[in-house]
This record gives sequence, structure tokens and C-alpha cells, in this order.
Amino acid sequence: MLPFPRLLLPQLRLSMAVLSAIQAGMDRLSITGGCKLNGEISISGAKNSALKLMAASLLTGEPLTLTNMPNLADTRFLSQLLASLGVEVYWPKGHSECRLNAETLTSTIAPYDQVRKMRASFNVLGPMLARYGHATVSLPGGCAIGARPVDLHLKALEAMGADLLVEGGYVKAAAIHGLKGARVVFPFVSVGATEHAMLASTLAKGTTVLENAAREPEIADLADCLNKMGAKITGAGSDTIRIEGVETLNGTEHAVMADRIEAGTYAMAAAAAGGDVTLTGAPVAALGAMIAALGEAGVEVDADEVGATLRIQRNGSALKAVNINTQPHPGFPTDLQAQFMALMSLADGTSIIRENIFENRFMHAPELSRLGAKIEVRGKEAVVRGVKALKGAPVMATDLRASVSLVIAGLAAEGETSVNRIYHLDRGFERLEEKLSGCGADIRRLADSE
Ligand code: UD1
Repeated sequence: MLPFPRLLLPQLRLSMAVLSAIQAGMDRLSITGGCKLNGEISISGAKNSALKLMAASLLTGEPLTLTNMPNLADTRFLSQLLASLGVEVYWPKGHSECRLNAETLTSTIAPYDQVRKMRASFNVLGPMLARYGHATVSLPGGCAIGARPVDLHLKALEAMGADLLVEGGYVKAAAIHGLKGARVVFPFVSVGATEHAMLASTLAKGTTVLENAAREPEIADLADCLNKMGAKITGAGSDTIRIEGVETLNGTEHAVMADRIEAGTYAMAAAAAGGDVTLTGAPVAALGAMIAALGEAGVEVDADEVGATLRIQRNGSALKAVNINTQPHPGFPTDLQAQFMALMSLADGTSIIRENIFENRFMHAPELSRLGAKIEVRGKEAVVRGVKALKGAPVMATDLRASVSLVIAGLAAEGETSVNRIYHLDRGFERLEEKLSGCGADIRRLADSE
């Protein structure tokens, strides 16, 4: 166990982190395609789970220790936001164990600069409101993949008795006498709103029932951790979650679940480039829709008996075109849509990819076309006509999952692909070049000037 010194992250370290992020933003990836991938890749902790677990630290005055933490720009960024609120953060660089102690907060205000860069930061609102009775958090604003409003988050908090004032780009929330349990029926499925409501309701008076709740595996992971902290949550992972509020929560230790999106991404990289790759520590049970789609495409996918290892093989066989429809879990995840499009650009025949979750999530299509993919976007659908081969070219990353689809295409393409603006990748993929080159990929990170 690591010692837990009672000090905040020094300001100096924050500015160094910002500087290195700016520097990394200028890096690019150079990939020489055509190498088959062979070997083992170990899957890291899930970014999307880690971020909500970190927000849970605000619910208690006792330390929360998170293990299997992914070292990513996004998780580091949230740790800085938490530190700026007064949370004692102990998370040495490169470590996968992070300790958060929110014994005394020095502020309940999360400013624009901190929230605008990463939408998940907005989830600090509910926990601070539940514990302190007030919080002011900037609205996250839009992002590259769509408008992404937070109306469902706010309606859930209002149903629990919060007084909300949206003013000057901020949400000022108060619940002087504490939050109250409520029945919240979501009009459509939202992962973030389900998690936010679940976090806030743990300390509400009475029982909260969330209906039409998201069923993503990260929600069950968050509920597991909150229950270890003393919360009373049942039904997480189903569409109805019941939370009986408690007076206080305690600290605990929790291992972040494995990243299903990272695992799915490497599965598709192996399928596109060909070879034989074993993913260790993969959350197989959470990957059903992706495994089915790869199987339909003619890729051999085998899971071990305990469901923690996934082996992907494709040696010379052609890829078949498969249609997919992104859906909330357990449907095909929107976060794997771009990667699947990269794969389908090399399939025999035409595949229709329909994006149902976000309205603007095809920005990778024109970039994939630069490598020779034949993709036509028609509203919510992309029509992908498979080609025999892709050819390397310089491309630009536009968002997190789009960037990694360009990496997949680059690994399968002939010649050199240069992926620029890779700070998007650093937000969500831990040691990506190292993991891929460990399987024989020719992939290097270069400074922009190289
Ligand atoms: C989370 C994931 C993201 C994933 C997405 C869908 C994290 C950090 N991010 O994002 O990687 O792609 O789930 O699986 O966990 N919406 C509203 N009003 C709201 C909330 C959402 O209209 O108050 C809309 C969104 O714009 C989107 C849809 O609902 O069109 C689903 O979004 P949501 O499930 O909330 O996604 P996030 O939680 O933001």
C-alpha cells in the first residue's frame, strides 16, 4: 500500500502537466502499415468508469482508493479538478493506484476552464450538492461529436428537490435541507445522467427509483463501488435502479473494471491488420455485440472459460461486410463505431453503419477516405463500400474514438500513415504505441517537427 501524505497536488506539478499535455498535443503518430499483429495486449482500467468513480470520492470524508486506474489525460485532468476543490489526491505518475480524500473541500465551484475540456467533469455537481447542499458547476458545452446537452442530469437533480439556476454558463444548485428520494423516468437512455442521478441519490433522504436507466457495465461498476462505500443500490445493470438513501458514506478500495472500448479497439486492430492477438484482462461479458459483429465479419474470436481473455485471429481470410446499428448497452457501442467503420472499409461488399446515439459522429469518414476508403455519409447512416486495400496518408484526429479508427486503418494500409493531433488519443488510450508495437506494429510517436 502507498503512503497517503496529506497534501494537495502542488501547483507546479499542475502547470507541468498542462505543459506536457500541450507538448503531447503537437505529437503525431507515424504508422507503417502491413505488419500483422501477433502477441498479447493487456487491457487497462476503463476510462469511462474511472471518471465516475473518481467523482464518487466527493461523497465521503474518508479516503477512496481506486486501483487499476488508467493513466490517461482525462483521468489526470479530473484529478486536477478534484485537487482544485480541495480533495487530497495521491496518484504518483505512472501508478495504477490512486487515493482520493475529500475530507474537507475548499470549494464547491467547478469553473468553466475545468469543465469545458471534459464533459465528465460535470458529474462533480451531484455529489457535492448531495453532501454539502450546494454546488456551482460550469455547463460542459458542446463537443465535436454533437451538442450533448445535460438537461436529463438537471431534471433528475430537480426531481430530487434541488433548486437550480442556470446563469452565465453555470449551474448553481442548492438543496438546503438535503436531496430527497424521487422517481425519475428518463425519456431516453443516458449513461451520464443515470450515473449522475445514482451518485447524488446515495445521500438523499428516502428512496430513489431510476427508470429507463442506462445498462452500461460501467454503471454496475460504479454501483459496486458505491455499495462498498455503504450505499444501498440494487438493480444497476438493469433498466430500473433503486437507491435507498443513507446518512453518510465511508471510504473503500475498488478496482476499476477493464475497458471494454479499449479491448474492442484492439480486437478490431487485429482483425483489420490480420494476425493472432490475445487480449488479457478483457471484460468479455461486456463485449457481446462487438464479438458477434466480428464473428459475422468472418474473424475468429475465442473467449476463455472465465471470460477474461479474448483471442482474435485472422490469417488471410477475407472480411465480410456487416451492417451495424449503434445502441445503448447491450447493443453495439457508439464508442466502437469508428473503429468498426475502419474495419469495414476493407470488407468484401457494402456495409451500412447507423449511428443512433450522437448526431455528429462520422467525422472520421472523410479522414478514412483520405486513405482510400469509400464511404458516403447520408444523415445517420454511412455506406461503406469495401476496397481491396488502403494506402497510407497524413490524416487528422478529430475526437477520441475517431483518432483510433485512423490508427486501425493505418495499421492495415500500405505505406506510411501519419496521424496528427493525437492529444485526442492520449485522452483515452493508455500506452497505445507500446501495446501495439509489442505485437509487431510499426508505430512511432514523433514530435510535430520530425
Ligand atoms: C457516455 C460515455 C461516452 C459514450 C456515451 C454513450 C463517459 C465519460 N462517456 O457519454 O464515451 O459514447 O456514454 O454510450 O462515460 N443527452 C441529452 N441530454 C442529457 C444527456 C444526454 O440529450 O442530459 C443525449 C446526448 O447528447 C446523446 C445521448 O443523449 O445524444 C446519449 O448520451 P449519454 O449516454 O448521456 O452519453 P455520455 O454520458 O455523455
